[in-house]
Amino acid sequence: MITEDAVQVRPFAEALKNTQRRVTEYMQDVLAGEDRLLEAMRYAIVGGKMLRGFLVMESARLHGVRDEIAVKAAFAIECIHAYSLVHDDLPCMDDDDLRRGQPTVHRKYGEDLAVLAGDALQTLAFQVLADPDLGPNALVLIRSLAQDAGKDGMVSGQMMDMAAESADTPLTLDQITQLQSRKTGCLIAWSATAGAILAGADTSALRQYADALGLAFQIADDILDVEGDEAKVGKRVQKDADAGKATFVSLLGLEAAKSRAGELADTACAALVIYGDQAETLKEAARFVISRDS
Ligand code: IPE
Ligand code: IPE
Ligand code: MG
Ligand code: MG
Ligand code: MG
Repeated sequence: MITEDAVQVRPFAEALKNTQRRVTEYMQDVLAGEDRLLEAMRYAIVGGKMLRGFLVMESARLHGVRDEIAVKAAFAIECIHAYSLVHDDLPCMDDDDLRRGQPTVHRKYGEDLAVLAGDALQTLAFQVLADPDLGPNALVLIRSLAQDAGKDGMVSGQMMDMAAESADTPLTLDQITQLQSRKTGCLIAWSATAGAILAGADTSALRQYADALGLAFQIADDILDVEGDEAKVGKRVQKDADAGKATFVSLLGLEAAKSRAGELADTACAALVIYGDQAETLKEAARFVISRDS
């Protein structure tokens, strides 16, 4: 399962920083230039936690895939994630002015450029994944990203989210779970399994980890919306209730949502037993996801 090439286990904070550094360097290379479109694309990527990129790098490490290769897939998912946020913030969607403590892309560059920067980030992700260096399994990754980001994944989750705002009756727990697992869970699952896919290895343990982690992540996002500090979260808070969004917090209340997130983090960690000590960094990531303040 764990190849002989698997390298040293790093604490989560250090591994996350490593991802941020590598992905940013790669971005500066791929998106170098003065052009306003390139500038808006870079602006959309920087400043994020890069948790999805981290999951790619970590699952790659567990399966002996070198960082130089993994960073391309990490960058690709951060492009998709950044595009999803740029479009999510648009006036026709969540209409947000603040992201990562900065004006949202459309507030800084205009709506037209925000739409185009999102479009270009999406296609760039697939271009990078098609790099021959990623080897023969890249095709599986490309196909699954198309699924996880599109009409059966993130975009369909965003559709459900919008539909729920104007629904006559509140969503059930099952419906909210399905919405969240598509809106947020699909990209997280893609990220956490990417390294195993590149190595041609079994993805089932990482998939179980990611399914629980993705849900815990979105519950934490919904909790931050209710009790987070705007200066730390870097985006407007208290907006889900104002918009009538269906969230775990709106259905279960704050305390039950917190304990659900805790249970999910435990479930995520338990799924990693086959990786032994090598999985410590991913376990720390699960704990970070539910205790973060941004
Ligand atoms: C925010 O994601 C949007 C959701 C899917 C809940 P992150 O909290 O990962 O955002 P950044 O990239 O770190 O800003
Ligand atoms: C956004 O969810 C999820 C995607 C962009 C797919 P939210 O609308 O809850 O994210 P924030 O709170 O604006 O970051
Ligand atoms: Mg939204
Ligand atoms: Mg939003
Ligand atoms: Mg939110």
